[in-house]
Amino acid sequence: MHHLIAPSLLAANFANLTPDLELVNNSQADWLHFDVMDGKFVPNISFGFPLLKACKSVCTKPIDVHLMIVEPEKYIEQFAEAGADIITVHYEACPHLHRTIQQIKDTGAKAGVALNPHTPVSLLENVLEDADLFCLMSVNPGFGGQKFIYNTIPKVRQLKQMLIEKNTKAHIEIDGGVGLQNAEALLKAGATVLVAGSAVFKSKDPVDTIRRMKAIGEDLYMV
Ligand code: DX5
Ligand code: ZN
Repeated sequence: MHHLIAPSLLAANFANLTPDLELVNNSQADWLHFDVMDGKFVPNISFGFPLLKACKSVCTKPIDVHLMIVEPEKYIEQFAEAGADIITVHYEACPHLHRTIQQIKDTGAKAGVALNPHTPVSLLENVLEDADLFCLMSVNPGFGGQKFIYNTIPKVRQLKQMLIEKNTKAHIEIDGGVGLQNAEALLKAGATVLVAGSAVFKSKDPVDTIRRMKAIGEDLYMV
């Protein structure tokens, strides 16, 4: 299967979102990535339900909601109702992760688990068959436009191996500092979803940047 591209709304123009949502609709992007921050789990506050609802009314692609919040279990149903197609919670924010994953699935959304850069992938061992997606943060969550943490690459390789051993088809998503410069290395390591905020929306031609990110590593899929 070809890899997926998920432009992150965090880098869009908040004073005029519709053109940015429409360019995502009219591009080869697969999902729209939607970052929710609560000022507690991360040192920043972004946006929530009303904006998700508004985006859902314009966006034709599945919306990939990344919850960088404490106690995400309190809000899962509301995010699903507001239009989330994929809901990702942080390993570090979930003392009852297995239950939270089931709670997400019960809403009909796909369930994701995200790891901060310092959290080892080995901790996912007992939920490998439960989640639909594993998101490896390649920056410390909270802000767009940060520098990619290179140590993510061996983590991707390790997680890929763990998923192969369990024979599961879960996605490996990479979030933070991703762009044309590191996409190929990530895909070779086993990534299947690339989130890109600044790399897409701060580029001259976002639709073309998405097309180029999608075309990277075409040869990886020839076999
Ligand atoms: C960071 C967010 C990311 C962010 C990525 O906490 O989770 O999704 O939008 O932005 P870039 O691609 O600019 O690093
Ligand atoms: Zn994110």
